Amino acid sequence: MMKTVRYPEGHTLLRNLNKDFPVCTYGKGVHLYDAENKRYFDASGGALVVTLGHGNEELAHDIYEQIKRVAYVNGTQFTTPVMEECSALLAERAKPLGLDKVALLASGSEAVEAAVKFARQLWVDRGRPDKHKLIARVPGYHGNTMYALSASGRPHYKKVYGPLLSPVITVTAPYGYRAPFVQTNDPDKILQEYHAKGADFYARELETLIEKEGASSISAFILEPVSGSSTGAWFAPRGYMQRIQEICRKHEILIIADEVMCGAGRTGKFFASEHDGLKPDILVMGKGINSGMMPVSALLVKKSDTDTMKNATGNFMHAQTYMQTPAMAATGCAVLSYLKKHQVLEKSKTVSDHWLSELKQHILPLPYVGSIQGIGHMAGVEFVADKATKTPFPIAKRFAQTFVQHAQNHGLILWANYGQADGVNGDLVIMGPSLEMTMKESDECVALLKNAIETFMI
Ligand SMILES: Cc1ncc(COP(=O)(O)O)c(C=O)c1O
Repeated sequence: MMKTVRYPEGHTLLRNLNKDFPVCTYGKGVHLYDAENKRYFDASGGALVVTLGHGNEELAHDIYEQIKRVAYVNGTQFTTPVMEECSALLAERAKPLGLDKVALLASGSEAVEAAVKFARQLWVDRGRPDKHKLIARVPGYHGNTMYALSASGRPHYKKVYGPLLSPVITVTAPYGYRAPFVQTNDPDKILQEYHAKGADFYARELETLIEKEGASSISAFILEPVSGSSTGAWFAPRGYMQRIQEICRKHEILIIADEVMCGAGRTGKFFASEHDGLKPDILVMGKGINSGMMPVSALLVKKSDTDTMKNATGNFMHAQTYMQTPAMAATGCAVLSYLKKHQVLEKSKTVSDHWLSELKQHILPLPYVGSIQGIGHMAGVEFVADKATKTPFPIAKRFAQTFVQHAQNHGLILWANYGQADGVNGDLVIMGPSLEMTMKESDECVALLKNAIETFMI
């Protein structure tokens, strides 16, 4: 068996054409093993996907039992017991948010595309065809298909694909460490100022944009209730969700909660929207809803809105081959049943509180570490060249990418992001380990990260 693969070896179009890829052969819980039996701590569950550990036999068994019976039927021809069960389980979870109809798709990007189309069709079906614009937040990420990418504040992608993308209007995303109204580099004071001034600042910016563009032309506002890789797990300032909901309701703008990364228990509640009382009109999930067993994402909407569609167009005009397939539904069902049966969220809090507090205690004092924040099993670490001034490294240094490779060489898997500080520069890593990580494994994660930072030479 090959130990590593480097382009142009093999026939896989490798995700990086200039590095060696170790060959992963298996995983168990928070750990992955390569062909040389080297062990890695998967602190990011890949791209914050694996919520229920690697090699989860209970999930695999449930999915296998379903795909033996029937793996695929087309959603235009049949529904299935497993699809009905999966959507009922999701609707039960989403009851406090008032969402009760579910479509399954394959990726987060697809769910975002479907959500934006759902909002647009709803306005057409309500007799308001002028409402079409989307408000998104910068920095933010909603996926890599054309419209999802248009809605993402990722300048380095836009440099190449810009001519193919669609116009989207934007406001600033809540991001405590670099909020323009935060005048300190002291972590406690950052939080104080962020919570004291944030809701007002971001709400006013939203109102100004709506006034400029005209509410009658705006369809929806898409946001990550807890930002993912774009800011490194920054949550909203106190009162933000209430303010933006009031504004959107007043101007008849739909709210799309993108919970692809922060949903399905990642932040300690099943929906991240639940932390701050956000009641979105449309919600999308991915990643944690499948824990990496199979690509599955979900679109959740209100029955009152699908009633409108039933009476106007007749159906939601979105068609993809894998919508509602039993194999995907079995994956969603297996994950939802497992979370309930093993009380994963109820049990996860003690470890996540410990993990976040140990990260702050042991990692924040280290060189280059400007900020650490997070919620539940989701944390971001932002690196800077100068802690006093929060000056980022120049992008040419490729700090985040080089550091993540260094950490992997030292047995720790992290997820990198760059460019968030000013649209060009800025380096961070985000972590999202299994929700079943033990106390001991949490300490192993912090120790590996400390070691990776201390041994990293720039
Ligand atoms: C918040 C958010 N939305 C959407 C997506 C896109 O999901 P996918 O990569 O499955 O298409 C991601 C992926 O990281 C994400 O973090």
